[in-house]
Amino acid sequence: MSRLQALHIGIVGACGRGRTFATALAQRPGQVCVQAVCDMDADALPAARDRFDAASCFQDYEEMLSQGQLDIVVIATPMHLHAQQSIQALDAGLHVLCEVTPAVSVEECRQVVSAARQSTGQYMLAENCNYTRQCLLVEELVRQGLFGSIYYAEAEYLHEVRDLNERTKWRRRWQTGIDGITYGTHALGPVLCWMPGERVHRVCCAGSGHHYEDPRGDNYHQDTHVMLAQTEGGGLIKIRLDMVSTRPSVTTTYQLQGTTGCYESARRADEQDRIWLTALHDEPQSWGALADLEEQYFPTHWRDQLAAMADQGTEGHSGSDAIMSLAFIDALLAGQPPPVDIDRAMDMSLPGLVSQESMRTQGAWLDVPDSRQWGPDSGQLGTATT
Ligand SMILES: NC(=O)c1ccc[n+]([C@@H]2O[C@H](COP(=O)([O-])OP(=O)(O)OC[C@H]3O[C@@H](n4cnc5c(N)ncnc54)[C@H](O)[C@@H]3O)[C@@H](O)[C@H]2O)c1
Repeated sequence: MSRLQALHIGIVGACGRGRTFATALAQRPGQVCVQAVCDMDADALPAARDRFDAASCFQDYEEMLSQGQLDIVVIATPMHLHAQQSIQALDAGLHVLCEVTPAVSVEECRQVVSAARQSTGQYMLAENCNYTRQCLLVEELVRQGLFGSIYYAEAEYLHEVRDLNERTKWRRRWQTGIDGITYGTHALGPVLCWMPGERVHRVCCAGSGHHYEDPRGDNYHQDTHVMLAQTEGGGLIKIRLDMVSTRPSVTTTYQLQGTTGCYESARRADEQDRIWLTALHDEPQSWGALADLEEQYFPTHWRDQLAAMADQGTEGHSGSDAIMSLAFIDALLAGQPPPVDIDRAMDMSLPGLVSQESMRTQGAWLDVPDSRQWGPDSGQLGTATT
């Protein structure tokens, strides 16, 4: 297949997070190519263009959409731009792979869903944590029924970003400036992979108060937030987000409990991911190592992909960025819906946004809307309620 026939990709935010998609794209030569890169950073743009061997580069997103001759847009700009840029691309009939989070309000979510419903393009949320080795392996163990009936999970995202806030100023408002779960999909994404068909239908949230100030003397949002979430099937999920507290980063940790097994991910580099399954581990007191189950249970498809990428290195979150991008590209090439489609993206994002409302109402339990109930016109302003 020639470059002309390949799916043409445009990457916006190509000089930031957008850089990490290179390894994945190299896996499908001839089938996809980066046609255009876009970034406001004029000084860094030539390097991005070279990195992807892009035919053209733009500083203006709308110009890229109108002139870039694209099939796919990868959106890797700051969070508050995602909804609008996704809508513009979907309205132009393009496929969208959008970085987390998809939007910064429930209202914006409605508008993205509306655009996705009406578009000929497909939408996928680029939740790379769903594609770590551990997540894929646990997902397979769940699929094979080894956890029994799953009724509890917890996840934490503990990543102190106070300095990073000063270099990427949008974080100071959208990640550490609003009480509640502002950046929750890395925690909730894998958990929902392990609860297939489930969605969170109500949440409440509490915070730990303010103990840190930014360099201007202003409080960040509350240091730690804990969201409790109940699923439609009666399961309970606990999510903790902390992007402020002075401490070593632990991005991310997970626990899962079913009737016949449980899993606890490592909290430190010198620990291992632990698992205990009644079918495989005799002694209830002795954990097994998750890694010991890789040989038998790791999905062959992803094993082959990781092996194929070994020569290029597993750049980007131990290969999960590349695997996630391939999941999107391969779905498009096969004419299949992408795995983290618009409704699954909303399942991962809406609970956090509703938790922000819970914080404004003294931790009240609030219903989380189901985007599947939103029709194509749901994005019109004034229709949003939680
Ligand atoms: N999935 C992950 O593991 C992961 C990791 C880091 C960041 N992210 C997400 O990726 C996104 C970007 O994060 P980052 O750390 O790269 O941020 P960043 O601020 O370092 O980079 C953003 C880039 O977008 C460019 N940009 C900003 N506005 C633009 C516009 N209107 N048009 C074109 N370019 C524009 C900036 O010049 C910059 O190069 C965020 O949404 C963040 O949540 C995800």
